Amino acid sequence: MRHLMSPLDLTVEELDKLLDLANDIEKFPEKYAHACDGKRIATLFYEPSTRTRLSFEAAMMNLGGKVLGFSSADSSSAAKGESVSDTIRMVSCYADICAMRHPKEGAPLVASMVSGIPVINAGDGGHQHPTQTLTDLLTIRSLKGRLDHLTIGLCGDLKFGRTVHSLINALVRYTGIRFVLISPEELRVPDYIREDVLRSNGIPFEEVIRLEDALPKLDLLYMTRVQRERFFNEDDYVRMKDFYILDSAKMKLAGPDMLVLHPLPRVNEISTEVDADPRAAYFRQVQYGVYVRMALILTLLEVKV
Ligand code: NCD
Repeated sequence: MRHLMSPLDLTVEELDKLLDLANDIEKFPEKYAHACDGKRIATLFYEPSTRTRLSFEAAMMNLGGKVLGFSSADSSSAAKGESVSDTIRMVSCYADICAMRHPKEGAPLVASMVSGIPVINAGDGGHQHPTQTLTDLLTIRSLKGRLDHLTIGLCGDLKFGRTVHSLINALVRYTGIRFVLISPEELRVPDYIREDVLRSNGIPFEEVIRLEDALPKLDLLYMTRVQRERFFNEDDYVRMKDFYILDSAKMKLAGPDMLVLHPLPRVNEISTEVDADPRAAYFRQVQYGVYVRMALILTLLEVKV
């Protein structure tokens, strides 16, 4: 039985196959409409979510399956003190696969060790968010035509942003990738990403503070929200929250083909005036998230279509 804790749980070949499957689902959705008839996904969300939970549920419904679950720790037995391990043992009796989001790093991994069904990490604290990465990779490959030879700007909260950590982990496996890491000093990528992932793989990268300096050289700009819930004090958050605001004036500094991605939710970091710019791809990215989660469910359940 396979779980998905990190994007590295899939080899590059497996990932390519998964993205091919997602593109096929996009083209021929009716072919997959009954692929998971009689199957259930449990969405166990101990932390707020809109897109990730709903897109897992939409994905399973698009495959003909059913969904059950909870959307906050307060509405589950976690509020009574039940451990994640006990919860997953029980959920294994109700569902065929589960997606878990938890504020504690490693909670989905703990669950996977005792689970009778495949567990998908739907975000664990400030650590990893592999299905957002699959979404990002599918978006990039579909809209840019490749996952190699790209200069990628990652901007905002690179310290706590788990989507950034997972995306860097996944992209260092492709050739010709360069990163421009754009963040205030306090929100730089964690040392383990800089040393163990970027430096140890020989990936060229630079760290800059000003977004304006980076924009002209990027193929892709990945904006992120300052992760308020991971700050220890509110004053630090308030100081950081509007550090970057991408607006139409700044978009003029970027090339004509630079894509703008964002895992969403957006707060202030992308002005709504950018939404109409053809380079803004963050809402298209949401749709790709459903296709790739459909492909992932089929893969982990070993359903052949
Ligand atoms: C992201 C997350 O939860 O880490 N959201 C998402 O799943 N699309 C990004 C965020 O919350 O900022």
